[in-house]
Amino acid sequence: MKFEKNILCIGAGYVGGPTMAMIAYKCPQYRVTVVDINPARIAEWNSEGLPVYEPGLEEIIKATRGKNLFFSTDIEGGIRDNDIIFVSVNTPTKTFGAGAGMAADLQYWEKTARQILDFSKSSKIVIEKSTLPVKTALAMEQILNLTKNSVTFDVLSNPEFLAEGSAIKDLENPDRILIGSRETKSGLAARDTLISIYANWVPRERIITSNIWSSELSKIVANAFLAQRISSINSISALCEKTDADITEVARAVGMDSRIGAKFLNASVGFGGSCFKKDILNLVYLCQHYGLQDVADYWESVVRINQFQQERFILNMLTTMFNTLADKKICLFGFAFKANTGDTRESPALYIAKRLLEEKADVVISDPKALKNARVDLAGIKGKITFEEDPYRAATGCHAIAVLTEWDEYRKLDYKKIYDTMITPASIFDGRNIIDHKRCFAIGFNVYPTGKPAMTHA
Ligand code: NAD
Ligand code: UGA
Repeated sequence: MKFEKNILCIGAGYVGGPTMAMIAYKCPQYRVTVVDINPARIAEWNSEGLPVYEPGLEEIIKATRGKNLFFSTDIEGGIRDNDIIFVSVNTPTKTFGAGAGMAADLQYWEKTARQILDFSKSSKIVIEKSTLPVKTALAMEQILNLTKNSVTFDVLSNPEFLAEGSAIKDLENPDRILIGSRETKSGLAARDTLISIYANWVPRERIITSNIWSSELSKIVANAFLAQRISSINSISALCEKTDADITEVARAVGMDSRIGAKFLNASVGFGGSCFKKDILNLVYLCQHYGLQDVADYWESVVRINQFQQERFILNMLTTMFNTLADKKICLFGFAFKANTGDTRESPALYIAKRLLEEKADVVISDPKALKNARVDLAGIKGKITFEEDPYRAATGCHAIAVLTEWDEYRKLDYKKIYDTMITPASIFDGRNIIDHKRCFAIGFNVYPTGKPAMTHA
């Protein structure tokens, strides 16, 4: 069958897989191929056990895989045969050398650029999907311009704004699609080609365009603003606990101001995920690079407050449980960094688990989707760790429960049944404010919400 467009995505991760599945689903007239250097990941995408858990993803994959969506390890063939190439490789924080712990590690990005250069036999549109420091497109253009034949490349920035756990909904109905391009004739033509892909399902007024640097920077700034809201509310949650104010009431009152808005004001044990911290630190590094130390300090404080919130959670457990957690059995409800995903990257639960193990607690980890990743994350770490998917069995014989992921099922549990199997005094630390605190207190628990007065029987 002849397809209208042949699209490639390099990088079959949390972004590449779902994003391309959505394009294939909405555009049966296009052939979409996703390639990756990791053969195990590609094998998973071609199997029943997808490497990424996202509500609705399986259905879309079933409808498209083998028809107009293909997963492959043939990067060379993919580059040769496709004219529109999305690049969605990982851009983690650098762990070595200059900028270690802050700057983006662009090694995967650069390798991809060189692969595109080496294997291209015809002109291409290359689209940055990964989150990148502002001005990265320039580096991409410089590498691609090393070409020795008449092949030409147009580089576009098209950052992805999906959130994990709601990726399919976000992709199907995005707030906006942002496309940054050069203002040249071919840059604008490339931009129009990309617009025509999204226009298959996204209303035209939500597809916005900008210059390429604004587009790259907007992505990082959007994440920084979102994370800043969480750190702002979390900082106030600490003050609430000192003053008997209630963070949910404060967030409601503040968020009803239409200039502020109600979203992203849920106090928590801290934000996690592979991107917020990485992207803010990248912003901090960029500001430092351009000599803007005050701006860098301002944004770095968002990360500092997030660390403070996680450590505060542990210290609260320690002090309220008689200043020792040694040999106490503590159950973690949730290990994913947020609900509806199995992703555990930078999950606050990982930090909490490690700190509890340092305190020599006996840690039981429960999660409906993230236990596979949790096992990998905690492999080789010393201490008593048990993994148990069933929350009732997980809490049995425990001194305390820490609610760390806002999974809906944790709201609905029979906490009386759980309490009856625990060691008393039994405590519950709600790092997400999702359980019924009054009811749990009435059952007999000592209840420690986030940003609200504690409810204790002592
Ligand atoms: P990921 O680690 O899940 O996936 C990246 C994939 O790229 C991996 O499978 C890796 O093997 C592959 N890869 C690396 N180098 C390669 C190469 N040279 N050739 C082929 N494949 C290669 O990462 P992710 O979560 O999908 O994130 C990708 C990018 O998207 C990052 O820049 C991230 O900041 C950004 N982003 C992520 C999210 C999210 O929700 N996870 C949302 C928006 C943007
Ligand atoms: C975030 C952004 O929301 C996406 O727009 C962006 O594309 C993505 O990062 C990225 O660049 O990777 P994600 O990290 O998947 O998405 O999930 P969020 O819903 O933003 O949650 C991030 C963290 O903040 C989670 O740990 C969540 O539990 C926490 N959070 C969120 C709070 O603690 N309180 C809130 O009110 C909201």
